Amino acid sequence: MIEIQPLTPHIGARLTGIDARKPLSASDVAAIDAGMDKYAVLVLPGQDITDSQQLAFSRNFGPLEEGANSGARDSELRLPVVFADVSNLDKDGRIAERNNKKRMAALGNRLWHTDASFRVIPAKYSILSGRIVPSEGPDTEFADMRAAYDALDARTKAEIEDLVCEHSLIYSRGQLGFTEFLPDERVAMQPVRQRLVRTHPVTRRKSLFLASHIGTIVGWPRPEAMAFIRDLIEHATQPQFVYVHKWTPLDLVIWDNRTTMHRVRRFDDLNIVRDVRRTTTKSDGPTAAQEAA
Ligand SMILES: [Fe+2]
Repeated sequence: MIEIQPLTPHIGARLTGIDARKPLSASDVAAIDAGMDKYAVLVLPGQDITDSQQLAFSRNFGPLEEGANSGARDSELRLPVVFADVSNLDKDGRIAERNNKKRMAALGNRLWHTDASFRVIPAKYSILSGRIVPSEGPDTEFADMRAAYDALDARTKAEIEDLVCEHSLIYSRGQLGFTEFLPDERVAMQPVRQRLVRTHPVTRRKSLFLASHIGTIVGWPRPEAMAFIRDLIEHATQPQFVYVHKWTPLDLVIWDNRTTMHRVRRFDDLNIVRDVRRTTTKSDGPTAAQEAA
């Protein structure tokens, strides 16, 4: 029997009664979707799954995104392109060295973000399997962008209602001083436009669509836009909106990128193995019209 226990007043719940190794029934999928719509983050403990089981589980929730390994060439990948390899391992399974380019790019995951907001069709669910998680951490933190939106004053809500932001990996990585993109990567990382306020297709709740991938607000001077985005991210990541996930081995954690931001905290990644593997489903479509080419 499926049971759901909330983890905080706004966001996050623990779901038991599903075996992710086995095909899901339609009612299992509906229960997970309903849990996601309510809690935005679900933790399924004790899911000892293989890569192919993770793929089959994930496909219940929409078409999968590929090529999520931003900053790494396909020839450098440890896992098939349909996975985002969020481990600290290189293609040979060794701990990535300090100056490894994939490691450098992945340091951007320590900034508050949503997965794939830099794509025209952004992500719906991220499904992260904790195959090897050290007891020393790192934690993953999730912020509820619905509760953060609800807590804004009426004037701010009116001001942001129709704003459109530009998102790119170049912006989030650039915040950390990482600029070593090859010419073809720069083309692939052209900014895309996303609404700042989204409405969830099922619950109709509004949420802030924020990320460190934002580099400007369309029609605004860039410094003014970035100062405002920084304020909004500060507001939205206050402790009352955040669930801090402390990993247990074989946790399967699902979050809705349409309604949350997340970040991973710092840990001793040069000495301790962390093997976490993400699959990602696509949302229904673009949130905003793109600039004419
Ligand atoms: Fe992420």
